[in-house]
Amino acid sequence: MAYRQRLPLLIKGPTGCGKTRFIAHMAARLERPLHTVSCHDDLTAADLTGRYLLKGGDTVWVDGPLTRAVRNGGICYLDEIVEARKDVTVVLHPLTDDRRFLPLERTGEALAAPDEFMLVVSYNPGYQNILKALKPSTRQRFISISFDFPPPDAEMAIVAIESGLPERDCVPLINLAQRLRALKDVDLDEVVSTRLLIYCAVLMKSGLDPYQAAQAALVEPLCDDPDVKQGLLDLIRATYG
Ligand SMILES: Nc1ncnc2c1ncn2[C@@H]1O[C@H](COP(=O)(O)OP(=O)(O)O)[C@@H](O)[C@H]1O
Ligand SMILES: [Mg+2]
Repeated sequence: MAYRQRLPLLIKGPTGCGKTRFIAHMAARLERPLHTVSCHDDLTAADLTGRYLLKGGDTVWVDGPLTRAVRNGGICYLDEIVEARKDVTVVLHPLTDDRRFLPLERTGEALAAPDEFMLVVSYNPGYQNILKALKPSTRQRFISISFDFPPPDAEMAIVAIESGLPERDCVPLINLAQRLRALKDVDLDEVVSTRLLIYCAVLMKSGLDPYQAAQAALVEPLCDDPDVKQGLLDLIRATYG
């Protein structure tokens, strides 16, 4: 509905819960090309809009992913938008209100976005700190949906399909995930993601001992503290013996 009504969309949620997969699915269903950009603290407005490059002896303008999406009527997905530098949000502003245009300072163009263009951004509220919060003036330009990890039954189906591990073998893994997630804020900053559960199931499917698989996919990626690790391993031992 956001796409049809030409509204920009913000997706919030923890890492590895399915935000990127959801947008890929949405783009496929809408049959629009998807231009994904992973934002980082060196990403500038020019990385998104484009720049002049030297080709042979000439300078030629090369569109960035945002400009390509505007020109072709695609979906531009800016992953982890808070990581981007401040000048990035400035080029987004005219695109995210009823004007829907992209100013290209360097070429002097102002591209009107076609109806098929959509801007989607994501961010992880868990990482939020004062230096890296989304400014209200930016947030208020997007309709927003909160994502979280899927309910256990759905997550089990996802892990089974993505890894190829039979559902009955995913049951203990999903139960373990629920218990590990209950430790959030007690011992862990981040909880185990659907992505890590899939990695774990892939290792199990390939024949690795479940205890070792869980250690490599669920414990080591999440923490460094030896005592906390031991606590998690005890929990895993209780599940996989
Ligand atoms: N609903 C889902 N359906 C299928 N796979 C999913 C789903 N949610 C997560 N996954 C799997 O988990 C991985 C991480 O999802 P992703 O969309 O990359 O997370 P995020 O963008 O929120 O960090 C994907 O590679 C995919 O295998
Ligand atoms: Mg992602």
